[in-house]
Amino acid sequence: MDKLSPRHVAIVMDGNGRWAKQRFLPRIAGHKRGVDALKRVVRLCAQRDIQVLTVFAFSSENWNRPQDEVSGLMELLALALAREVAQLQKEGVRIRFVGERQGLSASITKGLDEAERATAANTRIELNVCFNYGGRWDVVQAARRLVADGQAITEEALSSALSTAHCGDPDLIIRTGGEMRLSNFLLWQAAYAELFFSPCLWPDFDAADLDAALAAYEGRERRFGKTSEQLSPE
Ligand code: FPP
Repeated sequence: MDKLSPRHVAIVMDGNGRWAKQRFLPRIAGHKRGVDALKRVVRLCAQRDIQVLTVFAFSSENWNRPQDEVSGLMELLALALAREVAQLQKEGVRIRFVGERQGLSASITKGLDEAERATAANTRIELNVCFNYGGRWDVVQAARRLVADGQAITEEALSSALSTAHCGDPDLIIRTGGEMRLSNFLLWQAAYAELFFSPCLWPDFDAADLDAALAAYEGRERRFGKTSEQLSPE
């Protein structure tokens, strides 16, 4: 049985709105605490030798939220970029933004590019922030790219045209906030990922919650379509 720790962990950071509502705060206050949780979890993952962390920060569908929440999330991203890049640098985090750049403002796009450039040489942990991302968008953009290049559409070619081709598929996908669905996150890449659903609201997610997910992963048998007997013959 494969008892290895996951190389690549992906997280749907859900529950910010409910966290805020429970405290009679505006939803954006939950997202702010969500940024703090993300900083904490990046550090925890690096300490646990996870090589890649991919998080869902803003989906293609999140544009449909109330206008003040959308603009609040954009401001939060701009602020986080301005404030956190130096710290990421210090901690050896390489950041990449995954998703559609079209539709984002010129100043946000510039911030994303600068953060990617500034951290490009870091090797301790790779952080992919999926922003303006959707799993269906990703498959469509990959297929379009192959067609434009005149390439045959095979599983390998499509995988290598996805926006996450640089880091491979996730081994473990965690969703916080108690819902049990993928919500258009890494649809193709999730084919053989282990799934872990935590009732914890994202701003509260801490070391114990992460370790519970990692312990559950360790106990899973990853068969990739084979039988148990084929994996460990007597
Ligand atoms: C889902 O919670 C969370 C989001 C849509 C945003 C996640 C963003 C962060 C954690 C901050 C990092 C990102 C930026 C922009 C710097 P929800 O609002 O759906 O919560 P609910 O289900 O309780 O309403």
